[in-house]
Amino acid sequence: MGLKEKIEEIKAEMSQVKVKSAEELEAFRIKFLGSKNIIKGLYQELKEVPNELKKDFGQKINALKQEGEKAFEKFKASVGGGQKKATSNKIDLTRPAEEIALGSRHPLAVVRNEIIEIFNRIGFNVSEGPEIEDDWHNFSALNFPPEHPARDMQDTFFIEKGENDMALRTHTSSVQVRVMEGSEPPIRTISPGRVYRNEAISARAHCFFHQVEGLYVDKGVSFADLKQTMDYFSKEMFGEKTKIRLRPSYFPFTEPSAEMDVSCTICNGKGCNVCKYSGWLEILGCGMVDPAVLDSANIDSKVYSGFAFGMGVERIAQLKYRVGDLRLYSENDIRFLDQFKSAY
Ligand code: DAH
Repeated sequence: MGLKEKIEEIKAEMSQVKVKSAEELEAFRIKFLGSKNIIKGLYQELKEVPNELKKDFGQKINALKQEGEKAFEKFKASVGGGQKKATSNKIDLTRPAEEIALGSRHPLAVVRNEIIEIFNRIGFNVSEGPEIEDDWHNFSALNFPPEHPARDMQDTFFIEKGENDMALRTHTSSVQVRVMEGSEPPIRTISPGRVYRNEAISARAHCFFHQVEGLYVDKGVSFADLKQTMDYFSKEMFGEKTKIRLRPSYFPFTEPSAEMDVSCTICNGKGCNVCKYSGWLEILGCGMVDPAVLDSANIDSKVYSGFAFGMGVERIAQLKYRVGDLRLYSENDIRFLDQFKSAY
């Protein structure tokens, strides 16, 4: 058979091929385009052809090769991209989709955000400070005397003992100092954050927990402002019928100081086992900022006065959601976390 007939034969064969599957497409590719394709042999034979006919034959073989490439592209498109994708027509598009699990916010984040919202509405902004804090901001500027027990290794996680001890902050009151140092009154701010204490972990105590600190400094701020603000907060947080009660207390950085109770959210003050039949639940510490604290932050205590308060986020969450064990908050158990779906 001459070269001309061979070209015709391959052309005829190619035109009869029908490709309906990825396998057939691959067979076509190997036969007509692959590294050992049958067109290649024609180029070998071209060497034997007399010179004056070489050009004509050469063009015919090239055209055949191109035809093969074109046919391949066409087949490929018709079987859906070739290769494994061709099997995709086996997917049942009518099958119902698997449910995607929706996440939920952490209960402490829900409560923290709610506290922030409540204070935002009366003009408090949000401020933050470092969790690794120096002695000045965590203790000295807040009027803690050198022999105060909180400065003991047993209560505080020290990182570096030295000229200016570095420790994990034991409360967010450190942020009040930073805010006062960095701004001029009027100051109205709340500082949410994580705090650390050297405690054995149990259902009722943890070595880290969360607080929200509040600070209001301006001319003429009085204890009545503090009481009114706490009353507003408690009603927004726990409901309109909530009552508050202030008991005298002591903190180094406030004078006078108080601890605040809200009427029991469970029994409405009638007495139950949560409030130990007292009708009241303790939720925060507060007081008028000690003049010495204002002065150490370069705010003139003869001109300005202020109030401060600090509450535990876990405690509020415990009362809102009746979580009995503090450890649940940091164990990441989906069965626990899944129960808190909220807008906040
Ligand atoms: N820092 C206190 C604590 O961790 C809480 C506190 C009490 C903060 C009274 C205050 C305050 O700002 O006035 O127990």
